[in-house]
Amino acid sequence: MRTFAQQSSFMRCLSQFFVRSFRLPHQYKRNVLSGVFLTVATLIAIVGVSGKQFSFIPNGTFFANPGGASETYSTTSGGIDLTGPFFQSMGTNGRSCATCHQPSDAMSVAAANVQQRFSLTQGQDPIFRTVDGSNCNHSIDVSTLAGRSAAYSLLRTRGLIRIAIAVPASADYQVVSVNNPYGCNESDVISMYRRPLPSTNLRFLSAVMFDGRESTPATGTTKILYSNYPTSLLNDLAHQSVDATINHAQGDGTRPTPAEQQQIVNFEMALSTAQTIGNYLGRLDAHGANGGPVALTTKPFFLSINSSVNPLVPTLETPLLRSSTPLTPGRLSLPLPRGRRLRVAKPFSIPGPSTSRV
Ligand code: HEC
Repeated sequence: MRTFAQQSSFMRCLSQFFVRSFRLPHQYKRNVLSGVFLTVATLIAIVGVSGKQFSFIPNGTFFANPGGASETYSTTSGGIDLTGPFFQSMGTNGRSCATCHQPSDAMSVAAANVQQRFSLTQGQDPIFRTVDGSNCNHSIDVSTLAGRSAAYSLLRTRGLIRIAIAVPASADYQVVSVNNPYGCNESDVISMYRRPLPSTNLRFLSAVMFDGRESTPATGTTKILYSNYPTSLLNDLAHQSVDATINHAQGDGTRPTPAEQQQIVNFEMALSTAQTIGNYLGRLDAHGANGGPVALTTKPFFLSINSSVNPLVPTLETPLLRSSTPLTPGRLSLPLPRGRRLRVAKPFSIPGPSTSRV
């Protein structure tokens, strides 16, 4: 089940980590390196036991990045099982979710990763598909290496996927002119270029996708509210997994099956990702520091917890307000600083779609 991308990322993880680790301050090198050796030993043991390919990334595996290293931690199964539907080709073009959401890249994909895959496969890795991997899906030549290099330049150098969205029939605007340097100049379907959002830390989402389009009745999904969270989020993620397979993997809609959707959502919701090693700091979860993904798994969360305009927020200020009369706009009598009084007492209404990300 291992894809080429997963294999190359794994090698990159190890090789880059060794290069990177030698830039760490001396006192942390030993800890970091012993962690890496342990990880390598575990992975080798797993490879040995399975006889051929590795199919599991245990919790505690670090993946190098320019700032140090990140870790993706799963609250189920002790790590990432690389055999689940998230890692399977469920469409027709060879792509899986992991083609663009790589464990080595905090469940997104970095341009360096894409460029490496381009070099290793001469631009044949499944991420290089004209449906949305190339700058435009027409007027390109992908029959030669030079042609592929040009056609996939935004993906190679920026990690960008072309997200083409039709202008809705009910739009209250008109597209009069499109000037797209790559040739996608249609005015009924607009090409936007977006990095894969990390498919991790999803517990904290208030809307699925950049534009919230997988959390709106317009696509048959549900707006995520305090009152329907987390059911709405789980249902939206299941729906998203089907749309992602149809659009990115050119699937026919039969996969993921309802059971596979559930597996994907369970897999995604179990993941937490954070930087665990800082280049000049060493471990970010040692000596009382709360960095790293494990601390995220127990972070209290409810929808709108970070919103300064949610009526629940004043509960965070309970000590200050304890002796106050009930929170009714205009009746707050404590000597709060002016800005805070305004924030606590003044009701706001926010118009527009549910795209706010907490
Ligand atoms: C070709 C690359 C590609 C593939 C394959 C792919 N994705 Fe994505 N994914 C993206 C991009 C790009 C975005 C952001 C697009 C946007 O918001 O418009 C995204 C967004 C997401 C998000 C939204 C996260 C958030 O914060 O809102 C989730 C969840 C996700 N993908 C899961 C999946 C799953 C599950 C699969 C497989 C069924 C999959 N993706 C396959 C590129 C990909």
